Amino acid sequence: QAYNEKESLYIALNFAKDFFVQNLQTEEGRAIGLSYFKERGFSQSIIEKFDLGYTLDGWDHLLKAAKAAGHSEEILLKAGLILQKEGDPTRVYDRFRGRVTFTIHNLGGKPIGFGARILTQDKKQPKYINSPETDVYHKSDVLYGMFQAKKSIREKDNCYLVEGYTDVVSLHLSGIENVVASSGTSLTENQIKLIKRFTDNVTVLFDGDSAGIKASLRGIDMLLEGGLNVKAVVFPDGDDPDSYSRKVGSQAFTDYLEKNAQDFIAFKIGLHADEASNDPIKRADLIKQVVASLSKIADPIIRSVYVRQSANLLEIEEEIIQVELNKIILKVQ
Ligand code: UTP
Ligand code: MN
Ligand code: MN
Ligand code: MN
Ligand code: MN
Repeated sequence: QAYNEKESLYIALNFAKDFFVQNLQTEEGRAIGLSYFKERGFSQSIIEKFDLGYTLDGWDHLLKAAKAAGHSEEILLKAGLILQKEGDPTRVYDRFRGRVTFTIHNLGGKPIGFGARILTQDKKQPKYINSPETDVYHKSDVLYGMFQAKKSIREKDNCYLVEGYTDVVSLHLSGIENVVASSGTSLTENQIKLIKRFTDNVTVLFDGDSAGIKASLRGIDMLLEGGLNVKAVVFPDGDDPDSYSRKVGSQAFTDYLEKNAQDFIAFKIGLHADEASNDPIKRADLIKQVVASLSKIADPIIRSVYVRQSANLLEIEEEIIQVELNKIILKVQ
């Protein structure tokens, strides 16, 4: 059978997905991988829905099985499933070893890559190892969970944006299916276009640590620039959507999202409200930051609504904001 190279990559990646999924049912997989997922509260059906799996400890479990099934080393390399030994490229070994795996699907549901989480607290190893960029996995075009989310995003006309694989899985466990993850990197234009195919509304649910808040501020401006309506929810410090939903339960979690979803402008102002309240310089700085976000909104009608809202929240004249805004907008045009 003659396949073109891309088809061979898809077939190899699908083989790896099946292999990792089946590994969960081996003795080692049950004892280590499955028990890890169970500890996190992942049900059997959610494990199946997301093609979660386990990579056995050892250097060549996948390599051997895949070669026996007729996949060439060349294709396994190009699929990002194996690595060449440093100094001796003729020797190859499995990229993912002794980790639980999150299968990354394309929009049609085909496996295109994996995120693999370590099970120990070993600080010398990265928490996640991810598939590299390949001919079928263009990271900047993909959002984790989109295949499982797209129908619900359309129906709800809203997309929750989270940081991590486990946040996506946890939200599904809480009955929320319209969720995708940026996978810890900053958003790209193509990812924003991808969301826009299904909805104009995004609610950002980033981690409650300072890195998460910084990332969400960056993401918000990019989403605004992409013409999306943006809300944000803040979690208590140290929590992410997954940990918070497990802490409070799914009903309280969905209530929390509804009660705490803020327009991006209120979110931004709220973050700096304390420090800005009695320090005029910080206050001026906050106003400038808000204006910078407002300038990203392309639609003049939506922009004017937010100008009014910002003026109210900042307790200043609308004209002051408008004047500052014009300086930026006129400069750009
Ligand atoms: P987090 O550190 O918030 O991890 O990174 P998490 O998703 O909450 O995972 P748990 O709950 O500790 O298991 C958010 C995302 O950033 C990417 C992953 O996509 C992760 O889900 N990331 C993080 C990496 O790619 N590599 C890393 O070493 C860490
Ligand atoms: Mn591309
Ligand atoms: Mn984090
Ligand atoms: Mn997290
Ligand atoms: Mn987490």
